[in-house]
Amino acid sequence: MGSILVRAIEDQARQRGFSRLNLYTSEATGFYARLGWSTADRTNWRGVDAALMVRDLRSDVTGFGLGSRATLLEASKIRRR
Ligand SMILES: CC(C)(COP(=O)(O)OP(=O)(O)OC[C@H]1O[C@@H](n2cnc3c(N)ncnc32)[C@H](O)[C@@H]1OP(=O)(O)O)[C@@H](O)C(=O)NCCC(=O)NCCS
Repeated sequence: MGSILVRAIEDQARQRGFSRLNLYTSEATGFYARLGWSTADRTNWRGVDAALMVRDLRSDVTGFGLGSRATLLEASKIRRR
């Protein structure tokens, strides 16, 4: 179910013109990596080790993710070329 939700969010973001999505996760780096996300940075947020993960929506792989209190999601709207 988690991967279905991730891919649905990716599809919605892509349809709305977003080219990239970012999220922070403390526990599920491997889960998102399997869906095509890359770890861009690592940080410590309020005492919790977390990874900043990035998903390029212009790439061929489909997918996206999240849904817990430990996850912060933000989207960057970049003009498509
Ligand atoms: C991570 C999470 C959202 C995945 O949801 P899900 O419904 O289990 O996901 P799916 O069924 O689509 O995919 C399951 C696959 O992901 C893998 N997986 C699940 N959690 C994982 C994790 N933390 N790290 C790596 N792989 C993970 C499973 O082993 C499974 O692999 P398989 O297909 O080879 O059996 C869910 O397990 C969850 O909410 N976990 C607790 C909170 C959490 O870690 N949230 C992440 C945000 S910080």
